Amino acid sequence: MRAPIVHYSPAPKNVVRAALDMLKLKKNDILFDLGCGDGRILIMAAKLYGVRAIGIEIRRALVKIARENARKAGVLPLVEIIRGDFFRIDLSAATAITLYLSSTVNNALKVKFMRELRPETRLVSIFFPIPSWTPVEVRHVRTPIKDFPIYLYKMDQNVIGK
Ligand SMILES: C[S@@+](CC[C@H](N)C(=O)[O-])C[C@H]1O[C@@H](n2cnc3c(N)ncnc32)[C@H](O)[C@@H]1O
Repeated sequence: MRAPIVHYSPAPKNVVRAALDMLKLKKNDILFDLGCGDGRILIMAAKLYGVRAIGIEIRRALVKIARENARKAGVLPLVEIIRGDFFRIDLSAATAITLYLSSTVNNALKVKFMRELRPETRLVSIFFPIPSWTPVEVRHVRTPIKDFPIYLYKMDQNVIGK
């Protein structure tokens, strides 16, 4: 398995809430968080929207923590954590995706997104845009540390073929 090239840094809770709000999740959505850390995005999505939420995380210790957090939050039937490299895991079941990675990794993921994602799938990327793709919405969320831009993309709008 390749070494992770993005460090662990949890998204502030108000940023997670705004990112999920932008996705306009419905109960039948399947959300994937690529690099799910402690599982906070998945847990909030399951609690607030009742969606199935799947996290992919490469760091073994974080996988354990995320599973434990999901169990404690009582969302385990909805939340699943896969240990692995998201570049190697099929994303075609996703109808919504969250990213808090880096512009370089987002750029490298574009080919995979175009190959595997359905036209109706939405993506939000916290802090880092997806290079050369046009967001349909950008929101800015203020935290005590910094301002977090959040970018919303739709596979059927603007992004296909780029
Ligand atoms: C900035 S943190 C974001 C964590 C969480 N999504 C959040 O917003 O709180 C990025 C996470 O991606 C994970 N990661 C980095 N590269 C990965 C890869 N190739 N496959 C799976 N996870 C990866 C890191 O271990 C880290 O937990």
